[in-house]
Amino acid sequence: MTNNPESEVSESQIAVHWREEAYYQPPPKFVAQANAADPAIFARFAEDKFPECFTEYADLLTWDEKWHTTLDTSNPPFWKWFVGGKLNASYNCVDRHAQASPDKTAIIWVPELETDEHVRISYGELHRQVNEFAAVLRDFAGLQAGDRVTLHMPMVPELAVAMLACARLGVVHSQVFGGFSGNACGTRIADSGSRVLITMDGYYRAGGITDHKVKADEALEEAARQGQEVDKVLVWRRHAGQYASSTPMAPGRDFFVDELLAEHAGAIVEPVSMPSDAPLFLMYTSGTTGRPKGAQHSTGGYLSYVAGTSKYYQDIHPDDVYWCMADIGWITGHSYIVYGPLALGTTTVIYEGVPNYPDGGRPWRIAKELGVNIFHTSPTAIRMLRKVGPEEPKKYDYHFKHMTTVGEPIEPEVWRWYHSEVGKGEAAIVDTWWQTETGGFLGSTLPALQPMKPGSCGPGALGIYPVVYDEDANDVPAGSGRAGNICIRNPWPGIMQTIWGQPERFIEVYYAKYNRDPDSKDWHDWPYFAGDGAVQAADGYFRILGRVDDVINVAGHRLGTKELESAALTVPEVAEAAAVPVMDDIRGRIVEMYISLKPGVAAEGMEAKVTHAIEVEIGKIARPKNVWIVADMPKTRSGKIMRRVIASVSNFTDVGDVTTLANPEVVETIRHHVQSTKVAKGELPRELSEAEYEEIAKYGAAE
Ligand code: WT7
Repeated sequence: MTNNPESEVSESQIAVHWREEAYYQPPPKFVAQANAADPAIFARFAEDKFPECFTEYADLLTWDEKWHTTLDTSNPPFWKWFVGGKLNASYNCVDRHAQASPDKTAIIWVPELETDEHVRISYGELHRQVNEFAAVLRDFAGLQAGDRVTLHMPMVPELAVAMLACARLGVVHSQVFGGFSGNACGTRIADSGSRVLITMDGYYRAGGITDHKVKADEALEEAARQGQEVDKVLVWRRHAGQYASSTPMAPGRDFFVDELLAEHAGAIVEPVSMPSDAPLFLMYTSGTTGRPKGAQHSTGGYLSYVAGTSKYYQDIHPDDVYWCMADIGWITGHSYIVYGPLALGTTTVIYEGVPNYPDGGRPWRIAKELGVNIFHTSPTAIRMLRKVGPEEPKKYDYHFKHMTTVGEPIEPEVWRWYHSEVGKGEAAIVDTWWQTETGGFLGSTLPALQPMKPGSCGPGALGIYPVVYDEDANDVPAGSGRAGNICIRNPWPGIMQTIWGQPERFIEVYYAKYNRDPDSKDWHDWPYFAGDGAVQAADGYFRILGRVDDVINVAGHRLGTKELESAALTVPEVAEAAAVPVMDDIRGRIVEMYISLKPGVAAEGMEAKVTHAIEVEIGKIARPKNVWIVADMPKTRSGKIMRRVIASVSNFTDVGDVTTLANPEVVETIRHHVQSTKVAKGELPRELSEAEYEEIAKYGAAE
């Protein structure tokens, strides 16, 4: 089961042994109404039709000017899609539907408190709200096309309104996940060069109202420390006219949005016609160094891609009620709560709170009350709902035709519960593999045309040609039983344009590894390196194994090892810090920290200090399960911390060969302390899959 980490066998040469899962066929009722039910679609997206195949997606949008070049590859790997075309994203998601059917519901907002009424916003009403807020942004905040604005908003419809108002003006929005800390927000304000922050006073989460505005003050302080001044903070109020935060409003800097909107009532702001290639938004994600990466997404390519994949993979029709239970602060919410569904003119549900408030039946009550027929969530949420309420779904009379799982690998057992209990055996399921950087789905079955296989995402999506390479860029063939690095051979319209302000890093992280010739203008020489390990079965379906870099996927979201460690190092007493993933039944992976202290410092209270520092620097999502204080970290002779050794200790796996370490004797001391404490706390080891063993054994190998 274990492999020797010091051996010559590359991590991408390791054999994996899956039990092949049986196929599940999509229900005939689903197939009968599906958007993509004719297999002729595969020929339209065959490789010899590339790149023109993607005009089928672009044609779902209304363009002010049609493009002259579908794909411009003259400056690899900075691909340009639909060049010469002009459009406005807000027009496509709002105006054209408001004109055709103004009373149709665009958004149903579900507040967390179950006693509060749902809010229905029609396309006509959405049009009014977006225009008025666009007027505030333009006439009060002085924003114009190309400016960046940071949003730090919870799950309220005002977030969608703010995004669409920015898009109306060509202003580049950068929404930071609401659960992230003020400091994390401040770093992103500085990196993006935003001089306006849009936030909210508070919101409901797990039954109580949080003070969110306090984070804005922290964010501005952090941004200023990094050299970026913010001159206006626009504060939405969760209850108009009633301030939910204890933080004072800074005069001349902080403004209540409801008051500003009153001054712009009835304003109409013409949508600014933007070049296809103009950036629509930034979405920050973690990498292996501390500085977050602002994935820059385009207007025309991105919107085409999310509209097309929403239509064929989410099977969205205009008369569906679609609910993606993700947070808009992640890419899933941008693509598949806001832009994709609204571009198609459907009804999208936004839920404010946590899925299990007040109990594990809440999502199914919402589904029943609203008539949700398409449901989209993550393995983490599925595991949690299965744990807290395995019998809940059958109590409610709702019917999903289609369901999605996204964000991390799903265990076949959990998949089966999702299928039979949540989906009542009536729904087609797609397991969509993709990333912040990729804008939309890369790997998935087409729900009416390809059978489902629990635990596998499926083949490449339409027009996407994945390949698995070993470390030496040899193909790892389908059915070989070997894993490797999954790459995409071709560009596609949803791929990010660059990392904001870091074009070299964009090339370095995603393309340098498998680029065949840095001077080549031929896209064939520039495979996209996704940073995930994968194995391809003989039927062409991919099983994604997880990250190959120093990133810990917690509840479907990437946290950079370096960011966690830098956060711990903000505690002055900490000398060294190492973050490792621990297998977790609900959240997939959870963070555990190891720290060593400066000489003469007492250990008393250090766990709490480190936990607090991580919450402040990153947010509660990153809160470590345990903080272990060790006298000395296991290190190589060149002084590098051997994360794989402590990761093995935390997960109760074999620490492997430690004889080459500079200080092999510390390993046993650490192992004894950590494991006996865990056993005493009831954190017992569970059986791990072979892939999980491998992940631990190679953890930190990128160093
Ligand atoms: C990483 C991307 C995609 C939006 C949410 C997360 C993992 C994503 C799957 C899936 C197995 C998956 C990968 C990927 N991942 N979807 N269906 N099966 N793993 O976006 O934070 O950019 O994370 O999530 O490791 O690289 P993200």
